[in-house]
Amino acid sequence: MTRSSAPGKVYLFGEHAVVYGEPAVPCAIERRARVGVQRREDGKLRVHAEDLSLDGFTVEYGGGADGQPDVDVAESLVSAAMGYVDGAIEQVREVTGEEEVGFDVTIESDIPLGAGLGSSAAVVVAAIDAATRELGVTLEPTEIADRAFRTEYEVQDGQASRADTFCSATGGAVRVEGEDCGSIEAPDLPLVIGFDGGAGDTGELVAGVRRLREEYPFAADTVGAIGDVVRNGEDVLEAGDLEELGRLMNFNHGLLSALGVSSRSLDSMVWAARNAGAYGAKLTGAGGGGCIVALDPTDETETALSYTPGCEETFRAELADEGVKRLE
Ligand code: MEV
Repeated sequence: MTRSSAPGKVYLFGEHAVVYGEPAVPCAIERRARVGVQRREDGKLRVHAEDLSLDGFTVEYGGGADGQPDVDVAESLVSAAMGYVDGAIEQVREVTGEEEVGFDVTIESDIPLGAGLGSSAAVVVAAIDAATRELGVTLEPTEIADRAFRTEYEVQDGQASRADTFCSATGGAVRVEGEDCGSIEAPDLPLVIGFDGGAGDTGELVAGVRRLREEYPFAADTVGAIGDVVRNGEDVLEAGDLEELGRLMNFNHGLLSALGVSSRSLDSMVWAARNAGAYGAKLTGAGGGGCIVALDPTDETETALSYTPGCEETFRAELADEGVKRLE
């Protein structure tokens, strides 16, 4: 069995707007998806997954249209997860030229699904790395990022940016603007996460923003304003001014809220963090439910979040310098 891991991420700035060519700054965090892959000679794909949201399921099928997964967890979560794994394996078949190859795939993840921490990108990146290496092919992280992006793009009906997949493949803090992706310097950031135990549907949320943008010119301006916040945020990040960084994160959250992608629990956690003295707080990822990220070097935000109704889990996140990683 060949095993790889890849990190999740938080968005300091720019989710949603990045889909329309504005810049975004995600940071990889030390919460990882680990994927083990073993070649099968019968061409079938068998996936066993365990993580915080899918309590453990196994799917075995032919990998073609005739495949009938037989599982006992919510079908929408399974089909979402399977779509990403299927897409990753398609990329592996294409790049290795082994069109008929099958695999046993095992996924373990400490990144909750659909919660804004980049679980799908981490699974896809780790799966592409492990499965290509299982076939004797080693890809550069940028090529893995590109193939993982193509997977997300297809699964999300053409509504995906390169941000999540590039960040997961390369690690660290990154800047993404359209096709332009690169690593940037970031100071040690005191990141605190609040998780409401829920998940948002990325495809639906992105489609909702698209509809608003088409309907109201001021919604398109709101997307542009997020881009302005990000451009300011990049300089502030470089200068290491946490207070100003927090202020801009607050601004970014307000604009996301105006675009309809926040929720009651995300707003409660954001306000709990701010009232506890965090420099700033915002939702991270597609929204609708899931996680917020706050900046606070003290314990106050974690303590406040642990008493906030609607917050199921809170933890401090370390920046992950390393992206996709080969495991023994
Ligand atoms: C989802 O993690 C981030 C979005 O900007 C979508 C994307 O960039 O693909 C909402």
